[in-house]
Amino acid sequence: MTESSLSNSAIVAAYREKSPSSAELAGQAAQSFPSGLTHDSRYLQPYGIYVERAEGAHKWDVDGNEYVDYFGGHGALLLGHNHPQVLAAMHSALDAGTHFGASHALELRWAQAVQRMVPCAERVRFTSSGTEATLLALRLARAHTGKSKIIHFSTHFHGWQDHVTSGYSSHFDGAPTTGVLPGVAQQSILLRPGDIDAVAAVLAEGEVAAVILEPTGATFGLVPVDPDHLAALRELTSKHDTVLVFDEVVTGFRVSPGGAQAALGVIPDLATFAKILAGGLPGGAVVGRKDILDLLDFEAEVRAGREKIAHQGTFNANPVSAAAGAQALDIIATTDACEEANAYAAALRKGLNQAIEAEGVAWAAYGTYSGFHIFTNTGKRPITPSKFDSFDYAFEELKANPPEVVTKLRLAMLVNGVDITAWPGGTVSAAHDEDDLKKTVAAFRKSLVMLKSEGEL
Ligand SMILES: Cc1ncc(COP(=O)(O)O)c(C=O)c1O
Repeated sequence: MTESSLSNSAIVAAYREKSPSSAELAGQAAQSFPSGLTHDSRYLQPYGIYVERAEGAHKWDVDGNEYVDYFGGHGALLLGHNHPQVLAAMHSALDAGTHFGASHALELRWAQAVQRMVPCAERVRFTSSGTEATLLALRLARAHTGKSKIIHFSTHFHGWQDHVTSGYSSHFDGAPTTGVLPGVAQQSILLRPGDIDAVAAVLAEGEVAAVILEPTGATFGLVPVDPDHLAALRELTSKHDTVLVFDEVVTGFRVSPGGAQAALGVIPDLATFAKILAGGLPGGAVVGRKDILDLLDFEAEVRAGREKIAHQGTFNANPVSAAAGAQALDIIATTDACEEANAYAAALRKGLNQAIEAEGVAWAAYGTYSGFHIFTNTGKRPITPSKFDSFDYAFEELKANPPEVVTKLRLAMLVNGVDITAWPGGTVSAAHDEDDLKKTVAAFRKSLVMLKSEGEL
């Protein structure tokens, strides 16, 4: 898709009309950043909105337009923007100092909250991001088992680090993406999601250090995982002395206060967290079995006669993230935040499907927990939206989207006051309310009408 292919669109014209200041900033940004961006997921043609402030479930752009927000800080904001208690905790940590170059009580409070909530968390190690957390988890698994290979699954995302970046959105044949060493990619075996027989066959060769996956499926269930498969993976990895890693960067503290592992009753050896973990600030963690995290412990490794894994990180457990994270986790542990977001998302999926049916479009809204995905049905299959079952579709079909239609859908939603992600879909927070639901469903229906009038549907 080129910008010129959007030039005759009334949707694009309406978007431009509404967002001149964003256009101006995007023009300047093109001189500073590749594509004018600081995160691939924010890519939108002709340009994305520039946001000035946010509150609860809403944000406002530099032209003063208000949006119901389903980006939710890339999933980090289960409690919505600027939760007052989280803000207060951040402010008091800021006043005390942002970096002590020393241990501090807040990091302990933060880790203790994680340990109370997450079943597998015998020990915790903080990092600065989810990408760093998955990198460390895989290194721990390799050191613990003495094996070199990793199993990961097509479309599952674990950040942009070399070992598991290939096969997320392309290179489903396991070949390395640009810049990744072939030798590194060869050690990471890419399998089809849900192919338990293939996992069993590869594990039987005895060279696999870790199996890593998003426990409710790629992109928060866009490509769903059958919960029975988690139990099968648990059994197989235990049998073959392979470390099972749940990447709970999205599902952690969202699916339930104890993450997907608590909700689904399958306990991994290691789990990775970020996003909600740090209450809206940067932060990540690897948590899990003490005997595995002991590889980071100075004395334990001397006792075991093993070489310790070195792990530094200037901003690991920085006090402001720790304060925000500990406060957010306390709120999540003691309120119905997860259930409220889950219930809202279920109602939203239903409302979106009613809009799809009312407009006679062969799409479907689906998802689990506090996520939603729009299936754009490139294969033009007959669909009853309310009966749509994503398990009936291969990942290639679930991930296939006509780029121009999705772009126009996102722009139309912005014109109608709602910001969704490029999946297309989004995550819901506990701050979304009945009014947001009505606005979103109405905006979606209007957007479908706009797409139809341009001959896109
Ligand atoms: C499942 C999953 N793992 C890892 C990451 C990487 O986390 P970060 O963006 O904090 O590096 C993400 C980010 O979206 C994610 O969704």
